[in-house]
Amino acid sequence: MTGRYQEIYDRSISDKEGFWAEAAENLSWYKKWDRVLDDSNAPLYRWFTGGQVNTCFNALDRHIENGRGEQAALIYDSPVTDTVETFTYNRLRDEVARLAGALHAKGVTKGDRVIIYMPMIPQAAQAMLACARIGAIHSVVFGGFAAHELATRINDAKPKIILGASCGIEGSRVIEYKPLMDRAIEQATHKPQSVLMFQRAQCTAPLMDGRDFDWMAECAKAAPADCVPVAATDPLYVLYTSGTTGEPKGVVRDNGGHMVALHWSMKNIYDVDAGDVYWAASDVGWVVGHSYIVYGPLLAGCTTVMYEGKPVGTPDAGAFWRVISQHRVKVLFTAPTAFRAIKRDDPNAGMMANYDLSSLKALYLAGERSDPDTLHWAEDSLGVPVIDHWWQTETGWSICANPRGIEMLPIKYGSPTVAACGWDVQVVDEGGKPLERGKIGALVAKLPLPPGTLPTLWQNEARYISSYLEEFPGYYATGDAGFIDDDGYVYVMSRTDDIINVAGHRLSTGAMEEVLSGHPDVAECAVIGVHDDLKGQLPLGFVVLKSGVLRPHEAIIKELVAMVRDQIGPVAAFKQATVIDRLPKTRSGKILRKTMRSIADGETYNAPATIDDPGVLPEIAVALKDIGYAKPA
Ligand code: COA
Ligand code: AMP
Repeated sequence: MTGRYQEIYDRSISDKEGFWAEAAENLSWYKKWDRVLDDSNAPLYRWFTGGQVNTCFNALDRHIENGRGEQAALIYDSPVTDTVETFTYNRLRDEVARLAGALHAKGVTKGDRVIIYMPMIPQAAQAMLACARIGAIHSVVFGGFAAHELATRINDAKPKIILGASCGIEGSRVIEYKPLMDRAIEQATHKPQSVLMFQRAQCTAPLMDGRDFDWMAECAKAAPADCVPVAATDPLYVLYTSGTTGEPKGVVRDNGGHMVALHWSMKNIYDVDAGDVYWAASDVGWVVGHSYIVYGPLLAGCTTVMYEGKPVGTPDAGAFWRVISQHRVKVLFTAPTAFRAIKRDDPNAGMMANYDLSSLKALYLAGERSDPDTLHWAEDSLGVPVIDHWWQTETGWSICANPRGIEMLPIKYGSPTVAACGWDVQVVDEGGKPLERGKIGALVAKLPLPPGTLPTLWQNEARYISSYLEEFPGYYATGDAGFIDDDGYVYVMSRTDDIINVAGHRLSTGAMEEVLSGHPDVAECAVIGVHDDLKGQLPLGFVVLKSGVLRPHEAIIKELVAMVRDQIGPVAAFKQATVIDRLPKTRSGKILRKTMRSIADGETYNAPATIDDPGVLPEIAVALKDIGYAKPA
């Protein structure tokens, strides 16, 4: 790194407080902070302690006060319902204020939790902002998760109310959400007081007397609620993400640091200004949706596009180009898997010719490793920079990125470029010793992390410390492995834990193993992530049956697939499993998942010296052959 970015980056490390205090001046505060960085409880740090803010005010009302009331804030584009609808800042603020009033009327106040289980419709964004407006803490649960996962989150977050929609639409299928919500509430030990249901035209959900209420009717009779000042350190939301066990981690995001970091990122990383059209093709159920469909673009006064559709099939591989040209999108952010899907259906990008893509200035990719093939294809066909950036649910924004808004650094394929401002990224060995350039090790970030990153896990500080801070004292463990080259470019190679990435969705193989173990015929199991050309990775299960089980394997596997779909959800994409006599293990009993993955992926491997019985390894290939599993080409 040289030049302008290096200078700004260096200051973000040497003068953290000055750097972020300056960034915070661009937002509106009821009361400014007493301390920019509070290190009184290190290694637990807090940003902007003593400050009073409201994130919804900064995302909506502030722009109206600055004369942007009639500018488009949100464009809802839904090929699956044949709808395009524009919400100006005035309209969005008014509808959010009314919904906030309806929540208030149902007894929701500052600090209460609200679970949101909704598809990609504007009311989902309104729900998040309405919570922010009255200081309630939202927790959005992705629609592709099943009732059991929703129940787990209900038990942990203990919401006063759940906001839902009657259905989601997946391609041409209408997926009813209400039966899932009812089952989740039935399963959960914590019972929310009420459910507010947005009825979509495609399906009307039955409402339970006394508990369920109609969204529109409640909003119609509610008085608009004003913004409530909250502490900068108060939680804005909790977003659950996969850990290594079936218990998801409740990542907490604060109000003050979050809005400062996201606002800063919009200009400096994405190079967009107020009035620009920004589109993150993701889902509000994921962190990308939180940060860059809802909060980031709105905090910056941009127009955000909320797209209810897929990259292909709604109706075709030209869908993204249609949206870009119709709404004059300046920056598109999505996961590489979306581009792999488009490339698969339209390898020569012929459909692009039908659209005017001149508004597009850059494509940003994240969520999984960008394979160079897809990157080149996107770059060649779009003719704009394709920028890989690395981040996690925990961090809320980029750990590494190309700081296009400050200085466009040369792209190196396979690298998300360099550490973002405020991030001191290093590579260490198992003992925490810094490794020299080019050597692969654990990717860690020196504490304190910049604003916007997780201060803790919801009601579980001990797990926060043990998951992220304990392994390498003084550092945040990202859970990713990689290396840094001589120019300071970071390369993210793989996870160091049992988390897999399926179509940009983060999933826990441990959670899937817990489901498989619940089958009465299963003695032992292992789930690994194997390579998939479209989705990046797919889960593959290996089960050892209890002795004496004589039922046909196909029947058992069918039941296992159904169990994962039923308990975790369709998003897990668990469709393949095989029965095996025994699992490969070390002498101390640890399952050799990495070796199993190498065998399944057709890679060369060495049996680890600690293996209990090397004879088990050839059996894996045989078991895979039995189910017709084809190694990737
Ligand atoms: N509600 C209900 N079900 C959902 C859902 C939702 N919100 N989202 C996904 N599902 C279901 C799908 O219908 C599918 O079910 P199926 O097994 O019955 O077909 C399953 O969950 C898997 O979904 P998905 O991973 O989206 O796979 P897909 O085959 O439908 O589409 C892609 C593949 C690549 C086109 C798609 O994953 C995609 O567009 N990814 C874009 C990137 C992205 O959103 N990344 C998120 C982080 S940035
Ligand atoms: P999530 O919390 O769902 O955003 O997933 C975070 C994980 O996705 C990271 O820890 C990485 O393993 C992976 N990931 C995200 N972005 C990238 C990227 N640009 N390159 C490589 N891996 C990535």
